[in-house]
Amino acid sequence: MLKINNISKAFPGVKALDDVSVEFEKDEIHALLGENGAGKSTLMKIIGGVYKPDEGKMFINDNELVLSSYIDALSKDISMVNQELQVLSSSSVAENIMLDKMITFGRTGILNWNKINKIAEKYLDMVGLDIPPTKPIGELSVAQKQMVEISKALASNSKILLLDEPTSSISESEVEKLFRILKGLKETGIIILFVTHKLEEVFKICDKVTVLRDGKKIGTKSITEVNKQDLVKMMIGREEKIESYVNKSVDRGNVVLEVKNMHKKHKSENASFKLYKAEVLGFYGLVGAGRTELARLVIGEDKKQSGDVFLNGKKINVKSISDSLYKYRIGYVTENRKEEGLLLNSTLLTNIGITIWPKIASKILRFINGAKERKHAQNMVKKLDIRTTGINQLVQKLSGGNQQKVSIAKWLGADCDIIIFDEPTIGVDVGAKEYIHNLIYNLARIDQKSIILISSDMPEIIKLTNRIYVFRDKKIIGEIKEVSKDSDSYDIVSKELGNYYA
Ligand SMILES: Nc1ncnc2c1ncn2[C@@H]1O[C@H](COP(=O)(O)OP(=O)(O)OP(=O)(O)O)[C@@H](O)[C@H]1O
Ligand SMILES: [Mg+2]
Repeated sequence: MLKINNISKAFPGVKALDDVSVEFEKDEIHALLGENGAGKSTLMKIIGGVYKPDEGKMFINDNELVLSSYIDALSKDISMVNQELQVLSSSSVAENIMLDKMITFGRTGILNWNKINKIAEKYLDMVGLDIPPTKPIGELSVAQKQMVEISKALASNSKILLLDEPTSSISESEVEKLFRILKGLKETGIIILFVTHKLEEVFKICDKVTVLRDGKKIGTKSITEVNKQDLVKMMIGREEKIESYVNKSVDRGNVVLEVKNMHKKHKSENASFKLYKAEVLGFYGLVGAGRTELARLVIGEDKKQSGDVFLNGKKINVKSISDSLYKYRIGYVTENRKEEGLLLNSTLLTNIGITIWPKIASKILRFINGAKERKHAQNMVKKLDIRTTGINQLVQKLSGGNQQKVSIAKWLGADCDIIIFDEPTIGVDVGAKEYIHNLIYNLARIDQKSIILISSDMPEIIKLTNRIYVFRDKKIIGEIKEVSKDSDSYDIVSKELGNYYA
């Protein structure tokens, strides 16, 4: 059993954990829930040896557990899948998995690559990742990187497994796979801590749940004694009304964006699609199916081999992201926020302001209107409920979910006519997720923006879209022409989506 007693941890301007005590038993999967910034990752990092607590003690079976570092924790059979991907981009998949346990030819000290790759392959197999262990990790998608992280933790044969949002960017079928593995591991008597923002997952796989709010423990419950509404209430301190959206009809005579035969080898195979004015169009598919790749070709972030793009019937030639944004008013909110979306070393103000600069900068004087920029940033912080000490804080210091919100805030300032949201609610808490859903819906319905929603979250895509294209193996393999919004639409559409993969 792992016991944490009266743990506190402060960072400049914020008490991340305040006198938290929890007992984690073996043979159980224990969920940690809470809003963005509640202290979940901080707690995981303390148990994982990354941070030292300011106060409090930890025990394993009544023996005090003192950790000097992450490596120290590993040597004591504690391993962690970080919320922020820790992969080394330039090295191979196998190197990442086997980082902590490289195998040498006995006393020569020379690495036995055959053996390393073989063992790595075994763990890749375990999570169902069909990629060569020698592949550079930088070439993988976010989801594949996440699966590599997971297999790395599994490879360490730990007694305590800390999983900080392991399911945030993998698709449903991979989640299923992971859950099967975790259930198996649980039977072998290990302690599993699991952080997620998806409550369905908690009910599917967890035995107990601890809720944190503002660094304090609100309670620990057995999963059989709570329902979804109870948990939401514990997390946010009030009842949350979950909205459902009515169907709105879209003028299918008004095509704003048409893509014909977009092609690039290994990225997109002759993809053609239409986007109507004021519709929310879904791109659904498994990880690696080619949704993000297609979006990147459309906005000029990646170079196509062939294919045409028409904006309001006129052929356009998008050469770069800035072309796409400022010339054609097509915005793309990337799924890969850590690496592409945010300037981590800059303040919230700078990050949120970036896309509105051309709008507020005086054309002649070319200076930026500081007061307006600040007001916009403050407004966004309030609307999205970003937990921060202020708009001058570095984005780096925010919790993962709050960074996500900054990235969304940035794009809302850009005022594009067409917006592509790539997995917009990964890692954001229930409240913010509702807010973002509302926002997407209203952008289309009220502001008449046309939206492409790339999402692996089936409930999300069914709730928000009018129409869905289904992707597989870099191809568009089907279209659901009308997503109805009545009470059993979820079952109907999810079955229909499932059929494409059967
Ligand atoms: N290294 C750091 N420096 C300064 N502040 C930090 C640091 N790490 C975390 N914090 C702050 O501590 C608080 C708790 O953050 P933590 O990352 O534990 O939240 P979380 O519950 O994991 O949230 P999320 O769901 O967004 O991942 C936040 O206010 C965050 O800004
Ligand atoms: Mg976190």
